[in-house]
Amino acid sequence: MNALNNPNIFEANKLDYDYPGNIPALKQVSFNITPGEVVALVGANGSGKSTLLKLMDGLIFAKSGELLALGKPLSEERLKDKLFVREFRRKVGMVFQDPDVQLFSPTVWDEVIFGPLQLGISKEEVIARGHAVLELMGITHLRERPPYMLSGGEKKKVSLASVLSLQPRALLLDEPTTGLDPSSQGNLIDFLLKWAVDDKCLVFSTQDLDIVEEIATRVIVMGPEHNILADGQPEDFLFDPDFLVRTNLIHEHSHRHKQLVHSHQHIHEHHH
Ligand SMILES: Nc1ncnc2c1ncn2[C@@H]1O[C@H](COP(=O)(O)OP(=O)(O)OP(=O)(O)O)[C@@H](O)[C@H]1O
Ligand SMILES: [Mg+2]
Repeated sequence: MNALNNPNIFEANKLDYDYPGNIPALKQVSFNITPGEVVALVGANGSGKSTLLKLMDGLIFAKSGELLALGKPLSEERLKDKLFVREFRRKVGMVFQDPDVQLFSPTVWDEVIFGPLQLGISKEEVIARGHAVLELMGITHLRERPPYMLSGGEKKKVSLASVLSLQPRALLLDEPTTGLDPSSQGNLIDFLLKWAVDDKCLVFSTQDLDIVEEIATRVIVMGPEHNILADGQPEDFLFDPDFLVRTNLIHEHSHRHKQLVHSHQHIHEHHH
């Protein structure tokens, strides 16, 4: 199938990945992602979520299997093609789990306009995008600061802003809300809820099942053996406590705690 009539933004076929030293990170991972999907990647620490996102961003390459992005194989060879890299980097944007890996510019402003400056759009448009993402992330007051002189949450907001300013078609976010205060998390979630329309998709990893329930149209559950344990709609898993405990998505303790809180809430509501 050629790129024009291929409906999938990503197509993964039996991907295996090992880190040097034969450390397995992905095993037989297959899925297709189509426009409009908001896919949550969940699973225990070390199950392979970040590795999968890095593969989808063309930063590392599978040991075996095939990964297609925008209808074309995402191979090391293919990414040597300057035209393809340009198009790929314009259409696929990733925010890393650790913002320190992402930020390199002398100021926050330089960081958020770096991507747009590569796009061949007008200077006015670059500046407008820069202002818009700073405002969106609530970091306009930090624009002249060097990114390394920021708090952890502030850095995370700068790395989100710097990728959002590209307006990519496929947005890959590795634990986007980690380290953000509740109000900033809420703002980001409101934005992401409206984001994956038309030909766009969003793939994000998280440990927060509340966010999954709020925004995901689909959940991929990674297991400790680095394979996909389940792939379906949020309501297929989120209300199955046994499955969630079994796959390390909740702990029995917090499960009991939440039920207790909920039953308190119900009693409380009852009184009013
Ligand atoms: N740079 C690396 N070198 C060697 N092994 C690595 C490296 N990064 C990750 N791994 C290993 O690969 C596996 C998958 O790691 P990965 O970071 O993809 O997991 P994750 O699901 O993102 O975990 P977390 O929830 O902790 O972010 C783990 O066993 C991990 O120890
Ligand atoms: Mg990770």
